[in-house]
Parts: sequence; structure tokens; C-alpha cells
Amino acid sequence: MNFKVPRGTQDILPAVSWKWQRVEKIVQSVCDVYNYKEIRTPIFEQTELFQRTVGDTTDIVQKEMYTFKDRGDRSMTLRPEGTAAVVRSFVENKMFGYADQPVKLYYTGPMFRYERQQAGRYRQFVQFGVEAIGSDDPAIDAEVIELAMTVYKRAGLSDIKLILNSLGDKESRHAHREALIAHFTPHIGEFCTDCQNRLEKNPLRILDCKVDREHPLMKSAPSLADYLNESSSAYFEKVKHYLDIAGIEYEYDPNLVRGLDYYNHTAFEIMSTSKGFGAITTLCGGGRYNGLAEEIGGPSAPGIGFAMSIERLLLAMEAEEKSWTDEPSLDVYLVTLGEAARTKGFELLGQLREAGLRSEMDYMDRKMKAQMKSADRLQANYVIVIGEDEVNNNIVQLKNMTDGQQNQVAMENLLDELQK
Ligand code: HAM
Repeated sequence: MNFKVPRGTQDILPAVSWKWQRVEKIVQSVCDVYNYKEIRTPIFEQTELFQRTVGDTTDIVQKEMYTFKDRGDRSMTLRPEGTAAVVRSFVENKMFGYADQPVKLYYTGPMFRYERQQAGRYRQFVQFGVEAIGSDDPAIDAEVIELAMTVYKRAGLSDIKLILNSLGDKESRHAHREALIAHFTPHIGEFCTDCQNRLEKNPLRILDCKVDREHPLMKSAPSLADYLNESSSAYFEKVKHYLDIAGIEYEYDPNLVRGLDYYNHTAFEIMSTSKGFGAITTLCGGGRYNGLAEEIGGPSAPGIGFAMSIERLLLAMEAEEKSWTDEPSLDVYLVTLGEAARTKGFELLGQLREAGLRSEMDYMDRKMKAQMKSADRLQANYVIVIGEDEVNNNIVQLKNMTDGQQNQVAMENLLDELQK
């Protein structure tokens, strides 16, 4: 029987995993300077958490969740996203009581959605996300957006654009909702059954229906922009003002509604504009979610955040034909010839590694030529050759692979010589 990696998932092999580590380092150092601290939550949560927050009528909850009964007959779900769990933890751990507000958190980890597999769309993918909870200062909206843009910049991407919208507050959204119902009701029979169900429950979700995308009523649907009340518009203006101050360009798109229910006010996405990028161009999505903490039984704690998948970031780098300097090379490769040299080499290897040098030796009992080939493939900066003579005289042959120079060095001086 042949086993295969499950559909929609992938193995991250060593030829690529070093790139993931680079991204993770960038993420950590950017979060560090923005003073966001890491949070790690479980990979599964009670199903109801996602139903209540992401929303019953969303595609994620209706079609994409990996939900199962555990042995205690509780309904559990592999997390399809990170915000719900982070806000759950914020409430459960009473982070609203922390002296320093807002609480600024970030996470990196696998998320699960049962989606149709295509380029850039996986069933298990890794999101890096941040959540700033406890403030409704529009400056923090700009900070969060700036942080996301900084990560892409630090990764070397330049073909990206920020799309921005405001979904308004509760009152604005209610007015828009009524307008949507009035707009779709006379022709709802022409729409799919999902849309028909969404009409009363959550008409906004009709707008992201993949089946009825081309229906003429979609284009003429009432725009949120026309229903923003004064305070929502004022809030949006301030967010834009702070983005201007930060020097971040954006494109306003009143049709950007996002596919999760908890959003209000600021909503944004960052897209790749690279020609080489596939059909799915969204790299990152986020927005404000005032009211979410209350929704799950906590106190009022307005929040904003975003998430981006590492997979799509790496795809965008490929599309822009950007790459980091090559895979990290080896500092030292130890070529050993004969039993005594192997033993000595093994001892030396430990000392090199302790000194922080990325080092390797042969474990396949191969001839000198084959070992030298390995050193080449691993792009070793130095090769150390030890044979019987070297062991007897406590010396090694040290070859600088960049200029080809070879010297005899006393073993006791080897570390000093290398560290020079
Ligand atoms: P989302 O728009 O559902 O938002 O996902 C955010 C990002 O996750 C997407 O822009 C994309 O990079 C990545 N992503 C989503 N689905 C897939 C997939 N099937 N394969 C690969 N990548 C994918 C959220 O998840 C919100 N929790 C974001 C947020 C945080 N809002 C506020 N705080």
C-alpha cells in the first residue's frame, strides 16, 4: 500500500524549510520591535466558538471546518483561523485586567479549512497573525497594517498593494443590511439555496457567494459606503490619516467585505500585484472586531488584527523572482581517512559545533573523493582533512574553499585559526 500526503497539505522538505525559518525570524523580529508578544493556543477548540465568532452563515463555518466528536461526545473543530481562539484566551485569562492595554499578541501556526485545493489554497496552511485587543484608537489600526506591510517589505516583496475599506459600526451595518434585504428580496428565487438562506440571516454574505458571483444584482447591490454614519466615517478618516503619516499607500475599495462575521470599521487586504502570481492574489486579510470579546462572554474590548499565510508569502516571493541569499552554507566539512582519524574527527566536530561553527563529517565510510564532493555540495567554507599522519602528529590540513589555499595547522590552534 502506498501512502500519500493528504490532499491539500504538503510536506515542507529541507530544501524549502530553511525559507520558512527565515520568514519566522522576520516575523519574530518585526513583532519584537512593534512590541507584540507571542501567544500559543490549542490547535482545536469547541466548535461553538467558531460558529459564534466567524459566523454560522460564513463559508468557513458552513463548508470548510474539520469538525469531529471527541471521545467525550463534545464537538471539537480544528481551528480554521486564529482570532477566535486568541480572543477566547484574552477573555478566559482576564487579559483585559493587564495594566498595559491594548494587549498586543502574535501567533504562527497551522490552520485548517476544507477548501478546494488550488495554487495558494491549502487545507492545512500556516498563518502568522497579530491581534491588538483593548483599544479603539485609530492609530493602532494603522500600526497593525504597517506591521503587516513591514513583514512583506523585510521579506523583499515590492509588488504588493493595500486595499482598505470601512464596514462601519453596528448602526451603519444594520442600515446597510436592511438595504441589502430590500435589494435582493424581489429576485432571491434566482439565487442559490445558500444565498436564499443568507437573505434573512446575513445578507452581506450573499456578496461573497462564489456560485452567483456574476448575477447582475451583485454589481448593483447597495454599497456600505453609502450607509456609514457620521462617527464611522470620522473613524475611517482618522485611520487613513494615520496611514498617510506612516507613508503607507492604500486603495479604497467599498466592496471589500471580508468573509468572516466579526468585523466592523476597518477592513483590509494586502494583495500581490506580481504578474507571475496565480489566481488567488490575497496575501493577507484583517480588520477591526469591536464587540467580539462581548460576543463570547467577555467585557467590552475592541480589537484589530490580521493574518497572512506563510505559503502565500513564499509564493509571492517566487512570483517576484525574489530570493534570499542562498540556503545557509556549511562552515566546516571534516574529511576523515581511516578509523583513528574518524575518532579524532568526531571529537573535533564536537568542539567546532560548541564554538558555534556549522560543521559536518562523513558517516558513510566513503573515500576521500566522495567526501570532498559532499563538502562542495554543502558549500563548505573550509575543509579539514585528517588522515593517519595527521592523527599521529596532532595536526590537520585546513583548506580554504574560497581561495583554494591549504595549510597545515596544529590541532590545538585549529579553532583560533578558523575563528580568524
Ligand atoms: P482570512 O482572510 O480568512 O482571515 O485569512 C487570512 C489569510 O490567511 C489569507 O489572506 C491568506 O493569506 C491565508 N489563508 C486563508 N485561507 C487559506 C488557505 N486555504 N490556504 C492558504 N492560505 C490561506 C482570517 O483568518 C482572520 N482571522 C484574520 C484576522 C486576524 N482578522 C483579524 N485578526
